[in-house]
Amino acid sequence: MPNSTPNFPHASTMDILFTKQQIADRTREIGAQITADYAGHTNGQPIVLIGVLKGAAIFLADLARSIDVDNTFDFVAVSSYGRAKVSSGAVKLIKDIDNPIEGKHVILVEDILDTGLTLSYLRGLMLQHKPASLKIATCLDKPARRLVPIEADYVAFKIPNQFVIGYGMDYAERYRGVDDIRLFPEEAAGH
Ligand code: PRP
Repeated sequence: MPNSTPNFPHASTMDILFTKQQIADRTREIGAQITADYAGHTNGQPIVLIGVLKGAAIFLADLARSIDVDNTFDFVAVSSYGRAKVSSGAVKLIKDIDNPIEGKHVILVEDILDTGLTLSYLRGLMLQHKPASLKIATCLDKPARRLVPIEADYVAFKIPNQFVIGYGMDYAERYRGVDDIRLFPEEAAGH
């Protein structure tokens, strides 16, 4: 972590929302829930975890190791262009899945479900590939920010409308490697 500056205060100065331990505990619980839901129902096929880059990479890495059913990963990337600040809510695919998912049990994995525009778009796109099933797992859910109706099947934590960093989540690409989830101070935002 670089030195603290007014725009990028050191993470240790920020209030903790969820500790590393709390995140690990919830991730294990969700992994156990997914294991219970899928074990014996996959026709011997691995389930496919699809992470949405970049924020979901860390949650996906931990979640995959908490699921006791064979699983593979894939990743997609979308542009954040237009999202949240523009009413059109245009989301564009930058990187598609590498392997076919037709007939597979798929879980889209996100770090945060906010307006819902990203996951609505990705869900529609993935359904075109005719997976056997499609569910959504997210580390954080901010229901108050939703612009389109979409819910995750697995949610580690519901939070109010707070700006958070850490555990994959960034502010201006920084802080993704912080191992707990912290509140980014409003006075430092917007620079
Ligand atoms: C974040 C997050 C989700 C999206 C959720 O991505 O990872 O993909 O926003 O927001 P929505 O529900 O309002 O669509 P971001 O654009 O910050 O990219 P990143 O994952 O690379 O940090």
